[in-house]
Amino acid sequence: MSEPRGPYVLGLETSCDETAAAVLDGDNRILGHVILSQDDHEIYGGVIPELAARAHLQKIDSVVDETLSRAGLTLDRIDVVGVTAGPGLIGALLVGVCWAKAVAFALDRPFVAVHHMEAHLFAPSLENPDAEPPFIALLVSGGHTMLLHVLAWGEYVLLGETRDDAAGEAFDKVAKLLDLPYPGGPEIQRLAEAGERTRHRLPRPMLRRNQRPGDPGYYDFSFSGLKTATVELVRGLKADGVLAPQRPNVAAAFQEAAIDVLATKTLRAVADTGCRRVLIGGGVSANQRLRDELELRLKGEGTLFFSSPRLAADNGAMVARAARFRFDEGGATPPDLSASAGFVFPGLVRGVA
Ligand code: KG4
Ligand code: ZN
Repeated sequence: MSEPRGPYVLGLETSCDETAAAVLDGDNRILGHVILSQDDHEIYGGVIPELAARAHLQKIDSVVDETLSRAGLTLDRIDVVGVTAGPGLIGALLVGVCWAKAVAFALDRPFVAVHHMEAHLFAPSLENPDAEPPFIALLVSGGHTMLLHVLAWGEYVLLGETRDDAAGEAFDKVAKLLDLPYPGGPEIQRLAEAGERTRHRLPRPMLRRNQRPGDPGYYDFSFSGLKTATVELVRGLKADGVLAPQRPNVAAAFQEAAIDVLATKTLRAVADTGCRRVLIGGGVSANQRLRDELELRLKGEGTLFFSSPRLAADNGAMVARAARFRFDEGGATPPDLSASAGFVFPGLVRGVA
C-alpha cells in the first residue's frame, strides 16, 4: 500500500444515536474510524432525542481524538471537515455541525455539510472500487426508505420512497412487539433464522401484480400497515396462549413480507431502467436475507453492491467520502448553513424510470 497522502478529510456523523468519526486520505482510504453507539436503549427501548444530543456532546471530543490517533494524524493535518447536516434529530445534528464549524473556523479549513442519505450511497465504494454509478440504489435505514436511479454521483432520480414508516423503523417496532432489544433489525434477523418463513402470511403493502410504471405506488413503499398486521397476528397468538413458541415464525413472516416488497420494487427498477447494477445502503442493508433475496432475483445477471456491517450502519467514513465529493464539486459550504431535520438531498429529482 502506498503512503497515505492528502487531502485528509474528517467526517463526523451525529444524526441519530451513533457518535462517529473517520478520516479518509486523498485516495479515499480509511485511516481512522470510530463508532460509539449509545447504550442506554435497553432502559428506554429506543432513542430519546434529548439524551442522544447530550451524549453526542459528551463523546464527540474523545471520538475524534481516538479517530485521529488511529489515523496517526493531528487535527491540524485535516484539510476538510465534513459533517452530516441532516436529515436526523435536530439536537443531535446540531452537536456535530457546531463542532465541525468551530474546528473548521479555528483551523481555517473548509467546512462541508453532507446529506445523510447521500453519504449512505457512498459507503460501498469505500470497500469496493466498482461500486460507482450508474446503479439502482435501495436506501433502507431507520428514518428513510428510498429507491433511486443513480446516473452519476450527484445525479439522483427518486423513483419511490416510503409513504409512512421507514423499513428500519418497522423492524424496530416489530422487535419491540416481540420484546426484543433496540435496535431491532439484527434481533429480528437472528430470531427469524430459527423460524419458518411460511408459517404465517403477512400482507405486502403497496405491492400488487397489476401495477404498471407510472401508477401511483408502483415504486413507493408503506410499512405501517405491515406493522399493524403483525400487531394483530401477535395479539391473536397471545390470546391463544401460543405466542412464545411462535415468536421465531412471526419474526420470519414479518421479515419475508418486508423483504419481498423491497426486493420486488428494486427489481422493477432494474427491469424498467435496464440497469442491472444494484446498490443497497443504510442499516437495513446489513440484513442477510435482503442480500440473499436480491442476489437470487438478479439471477447472476447483475451485480449487487453493499458494505460490510460497520459501513452499512451510520459511520463517519461515508460522511467523509460524501464531503470529499461535495467539496470537489462546489467547494466549502457557507458557514451560515445550519443543521436541518429537512436538509434537502442535493441533486435529487423526482422521476420515472
Ligand atoms: O442507517 P442506520 O444505521 O441509521 C439511520 O440512518 O437510521 O439504520 C438503522 C436501522 C435500524 O432501524 C436497525 O434496526 C436497522 O437499521 N438494521 C437492520 C439490520 N441491522 C440494522 N434491519 C434489518 N436487519 C438487520 N440486520
Ligand atoms: Zn443512516
